[in-house]
Amino acid sequence: MCGIVGYIGQRDAYPILIKGLKRLEYRGYDSAGVAIINRGRELNVYKTKGKVSDLEHFVEDKDVSGTIGIAHTRWATHGEPCTENAHPHYSQTKRLALIHNGIIENYASLKNKLQAKGYTFQSSTDTEVLVQLIEFIQTSHELNLLTAVQLALQEVIGAYAIAVLDKENPNQIIAARKSSPLVVGIGEGEFFLASDATPIVEYTDKVVYLDDGEIAVIRRDEKLKVVNLDNVECPHDVKTVTMNLGQLEKGGYPHFMLKEIFEQPDCIRDCMRGRINVEADNVVLSAVIDYKKQLLSAKRFIIVACGTSWHAALIGKHLIESLCRIPVEVEYASEFRYHNPVIDADDVVIAISQSGETADTLAAVELAKSRGAFIYGICNAIGSSIPRATHTGSYIHVGPEIGVASTKAFTGQVTVLAMLALSMAKEKNSIDNHTFVNIVKELQQIPEKMEEVLKENEHIAQLAKIFTYAKNCIYLGRGYSYPVALEGALKLKEISYIHAEGYPAAEMKHGPIALVDEEMPVVVIAPHDDLYEKVLSNVQEVKARKGRVIAFVSKGDQMISQIADTCIELPDTMDCLTPLIATVPLQMLAYHIAVCKGKNVDQPRNLAKSVTVE
Ligand code: G6P
Repeated sequence: MCGIVGYIGQRDAYPILIKGLKRLEYRGYDSAGVAIINRGRELNVYKTKGKVSDLEHFVEDKDVSGTIGIAHTRWATHGEPCTENAHPHYSQTKRLALIHNGIIENYASLKNKLQAKGYTFQSSTDTEVLVQLIEFIQTSHELNLLTAVQLALQEVIGAYAIAVLDKENPNQIIAARKSSPLVVGIGEGEFFLASDATPIVEYTDKVVYLDDGEIAVIRRDEKLKVVNLDNVECPHDVKTVTMNLGQLEKGGYPHFMLKEIFEQPDCIRDCMRGRINVEADNVVLSAVIDYKKQLLSAKRFIIVACGTSWHAALIGKHLIESLCRIPVEVEYASEFRYHNPVIDADDVVIAISQSGETADTLAAVELAKSRGAFIYGICNAIGSSIPRATHTGSYIHVGPEIGVASTKAFTGQVTVLAMLALSMAKEKNSIDNHTFVNIVKELQQIPEKMEEVLKENEHIAQLAKIFTYAKNCIYLGRGYSYPVALEGALKLKEISYIHAEGYPAAEMKHGPIALVDEEMPVVVIAPHDDLYEKVLSNVQEVKARKGRVIAFVSKGDQMISQIADTCIELPDTMDCLTPLIATVPLQMLAYHIAVCKGKNVDQPRNLAKSVTVE
């Protein structure tokens, strides 16, 4: 939530900042702003409600010159989305400007204190309180900016990634992190700053990921210095990031979401590369080799996640329980951290997160770690906070996901979970060799089968036109298809704003069936698996109440296809791998319905991709 960018060097800062904001727009897009110090040492702040493109229009006739600047794209927490609440925020005398990602929890008491000293506020944000506090400390004790920031942050409770400019020192940016991500890019005579590496990679591949409690002192023509709040210097590793810039562009697709849906076959190949040994029909995850003892001696697994990642976790539970015979609990990270969970040293906690930054998931990891559990991360964003906080883990390697509604990350997560379950089952001898080899072989076929599903795109686009009228929708599935139903419903809600419920098909008769009438589209995921006959009965129950059934069935289906209003055939696969195939057409369906309804598919209202506040 909220993206921040900074630049100091020889080039004009503005184009770099704007491009960076566009890369980070997935983190929030209700207002945007820049602060730049020009050669005349004026600190200009321009900000406006709306998207980064609105900011570009707004500054068309303004002075955006200068080689040092910071910029922000916002997802509102405190204060409605409006120009006054947009970042950067000036301090009282306009000497300082600050951008912030996170929440200052004790902002109200700090604000009262400052108001009592005569400070006035232009916005209703927590962020403005912080910049005023820094200036108050700086001026009342005649301190330099770094010291003032250190002292101010000692008074702050909450989460932050901040960057501050001081017009009295146009050669320096001070940036600090606690619980919100911050990356410094090191170029030749220039530095970049951002919430993730995507705004940085086209200028340099050398980055430093700040840790919690660290402050980056970024000075023109000096080496990067990292200190803590007590001004003790912190050693920092310079990492090399590799990212294909093409992954950050739409590449001819109208939306990132559609591009990411179509990338899935290649993503799954990338995810499996080097991990599945074709000749030996073997699955090798380095984390399982390195931490075999901790994983195999686990009495229980607990998977924590949020949103789409939580749906992947439900599939992981089925996979691990059925292949490894180890009990698995799945928890919303946000609930887990607050119900005083029972966690033992022989528990393994798996944290699943695309961004690796979700505040609740990160907090759940820290809690489980403090109780002695072994923590395994399944993440996409390389170098993000969760992989750095866990004992080990596996990246899903699907490349940057930019559309706010998660697609390829979900199938990547399920693929890693399948490989994890398979490799542990093999080590544990809880799977017979024949079954193991069959699943591994089938897993290798998944990308090709996904390609077949993608050929249904036009068909699904036509189908979507019929359903734009719907106000409510039910998604039904059983077994491995139940989390798929949840994920399909979530996709529809997120981007088309149609209310949708995912339900275990048999549970429908305990409530949701009351909603079914001739207006109600009911999406059924009914592959030819062990539960097919049961789902058939559930479909009949819907039809008996005149519901409109859209069924996703296995190729050659004979029965559900006879009674459903519309049927889409999917390639057959093994039960445990069904989610990898059946989720894809549901992503396409949600996408096309949202497009038909004229919605902003990549940036749906009120959502953000990376939720770094709880
Ligand atoms: C947000 C995103 C979802 C995502 C969830 C968890 O709500 O919009 O797409 O599933 O956060 O994010 P994570 O990065 O932890 O997987």
